[in-house]
Amino acid sequence: MNILLLGSGGREHALSWKIRQSKLCTKLFIAPGNAGTAACGVNLDVSVNDFPNIRKSCIKEEIDMVIVGPEEPLVNGIVDFFAEDKSLSKIPVIGPCSTGAQLEGSKAFSKKFMQRYNIPTAAYKEFDLENYEEGVSYLKNHALPIVLKADGLAAGKGVVICQSHIEAMAEYELMLQQNKFGEAGRKIVVEEFLKGIEVSVFVLADGKNYLILPEAKDYKQIGVGDTGPNTGGMGAVSPVPFADESFMKKVEERVIKPTVAGLESEKIDYRGFIFIGLMKVGDDPYVIEYNCRLGDPETEVVIPRLKNDILELFVAVSQQRLHEIVIDKDERVASTIMAVSGGYPGSYEKGFEITGLKKKIPPDCFVFHAGTKTEGNKVLTSGGRVLCVTSFAESIYEAVEKSREVLNEIDFEGMYYRKDIGYEFS
Ligand code: AMP
Ligand code: GLY
Repeated sequence: MNILLLGSGGREHALSWKIRQSKLCTKLFIAPGNAGTAACGVNLDVSVNDFPNIRKSCIKEEIDMVIVGPEEPLVNGIVDFFAEDKSLSKIPVIGPCSTGAQLEGSKAFSKKFMQRYNIPTAAYKEFDLENYEEGVSYLKNHALPIVLKADGLAAGKGVVICQSHIEAMAEYELMLQQNKFGEAGRKIVVEEFLKGIEVSVFVLADGKNYLILPEAKDYKQIGVGDTGPNTGGMGAVSPVPFADESFMKKVEERVIKPTVAGLESEKIDYRGFIFIGLMKVGDDPYVIEYNCRLGDPETEVVIPRLKNDILELFVAVSQQRLHEIVIDKDERVASTIMAVSGGYPGSYEKGFEITGLKKKIPPDCFVFHAGTKTEGNKVLTSGGRVLCVTSFAESIYEAVEKSREVLNEIDFEGMYYRKDIGYEFS
């Protein structure tokens, strides 16, 4: 099969590395890709939201399947675009239709969805300029802390947790009256704060059936000990020690089954990944958010732990045959550590040469590129999150140590990474 993978992050490098290993893969194209994906296939200079040029590439390269990495093209309707186009409609696209992608694209949509199917989540209310005053009194009487969320996609920055009523009021006004998040924040969700520990659960769905992939925990904050501003993700571990069998059973019964059945009953043809961000409160799972894609950097630990042929899974998704497949996973621990540009998640410079990439690394370690590009025979930084190192070991501690040893050999100006990924489990 000729495959086109959309995206350019560490997630897409891990996916292209895995697709390359499939016996079903003939040619692999990545649009736009990075310096890492270029070693697994052919990068195409096409943006993930440029549907007309994606169409042209599919026809020219005789693509048999498209796999969508990031959320934006899904929310923008790439699956619907393919379904409606005569020359593309036979090409399966892994990812939900635009309505399914609303699980991530609109917090209000996903909260209402969860309410309809009694899926456990924080209590909430929606506000916009029309019921602005009602929101003011709602906020005044709300228990602290208060969570404010922009309804739409806000590049992971749309959630603000307020410790005081004054702060919540100021944030409320900023979001609704001053358009802090632009179009994404015209409507907001105000929700109860859930106290617990977070875990990400990944499901592959075919519209009727589902498979549960290895779970993961990511480390969002820039600083050691989970301090400082949020980032796209500084590292991840899988499996997650507290997500034991009895907890995962609750997740399946209370969250996954009603989610997949709810989508099917609403005739939302969801053939793709569902990333469920959960809070474990006491022993019970609560949904914090859905995403319509895999997580980054969670993919960099989840996908290496998956032993199945990934294209066989995707073909089964397109034929609604996932019930015939059993997930086979590596029982070892995987951890990944992300190396980022100096200054990230604030402003940072790009274009620095990355050295040490050619050094030999242990067999259970992998370097996945995120924000990198090639220039001549050099690899340069081209984003905030630059690359990550995933390692397998028998314990989280050992896996993290291995990744740190590999990162010790790699360098670029301003390089920073967290040395404490997995700290609470070591
Ligand atoms: P989201 O963009 O929805 O993933 O939210 C970003 C982060 O905010 C989550 O990963 C949580 O750490 C935190 N968060 C979101 N909603 C809540 C909530 N209701 N209670 C506690 N923390 C939350
Ligand atoms: N690592 C969190 C995300 O991909 O949204």
